[in-house]
Amino acid sequence: MFADFANHWIIVGLAADLRAGKMQPLTVAGERLVLFRDSEARPAALIDRCPHRGVALSLGTLEGGIVECPFHGWKFDGTGANCLVPWNPDAKRDQLAATALPVREAGGLIWLYTGFAPTTEPAPSETLFKPGVVLSAQSALWNIHWTRAMENMLDSPHLPFVHKGTIGRFVAKYRHGRMETEWFEEPYGARIENIIEGKDKPSRLDYRYPNAMELFLEIPGRLMHLMAICTPENQDQTRLTIVTLRDFARSKLLDPFFRRSNRRIALEDQAILESSLPAEVPPAGQEKSVRTDRPTLAFRKLYFERIKGSSASR
Ligand code: FES
Ligand SMILES: [Fe+2]
Repeated sequence: MFADFANHWIIVGLAADLRAGKMQPLTVAGERLVLFRDSEARPAALIDRCPHRGVALSLGTLEGGIVECPFHGWKFDGTGANCLVPWNPDAKRDQLAATALPVREAGGLIWLYTGFAPTTEPAPSETLFKPGVVLSAQSALWNIHWTRAMENMLDSPHLPFVHKGTIGRFVAKYRHGRMETEWFEEPYGARIENIIEGKDKPSRLDYRYPNAMELFLEIPGRLMHLMAICTPENQDQTRLTIVTLRDFARSKLLDPFFRRSNRRIALEDQAILESSLPAEVPPAGQEKSVRTDRPTLAFRKLYFERIKGSSASR
């Protein structure tokens, strides 16, 4: 299960967006899953495939944190335990469970483990715990292997080209200068610092293993970070989730404004990236690279050494 993407804690959305009484279907690395809140309002995740005849549990109903399959009405709780088999009061329900996955709520986010036996806990960014920080999220499906999307998020030299009219505008005038790109390993992944000739301050972004990036925007006196999470739905498609973290313009009513500007930037990337050949990032030797490709090459190394080839079993 979770071919080439197993045994990671990944962000699957905002805690506030996972409402009691509503199931959220999602696909991660080829597995169909359903998220919901159990009877105690704790987040839960099941493989979205009834153990009886394989239909999607998410087409059924959720009442009091118990999922009822739409086909023959079997019921399951957040641990996957079977609570009812209609017409069969003598059924051995303990042998008729659905499959649950580890899920947590931390830092205002919902985290899912792509496997069954985590040895660690999710490690949210400290930005999520800063006073006054509010979150909003949005997502889009890109026709791209997730590694190309992830590398793009770590790649700063593309800004004045792909994002001429948006975020790249601010660095466009420096593009004939030199950029120094540093990659500092951290327990969570890496801190990337870019120093552009002519600018006095480095810009910073973090790579958060395995599939997220946090961009530190420089707005004097204000905190605004963007997190980009690149989750494979399958070999050909990636769910790009952007979380905006901000300590100003905190009203929910302003979310659409932030969403609109994020969408515009993401579409600029998508238009270029979906043309990548080969679809999945190749070993470094198969493409030409330069000094400022250090972060993408470092990611690529981690991908081939620690991520690709993984799969979960139980
Ligand atoms: S398929 Fe789910 S109860 Fe029969
Ligand atoms: Fe971009």
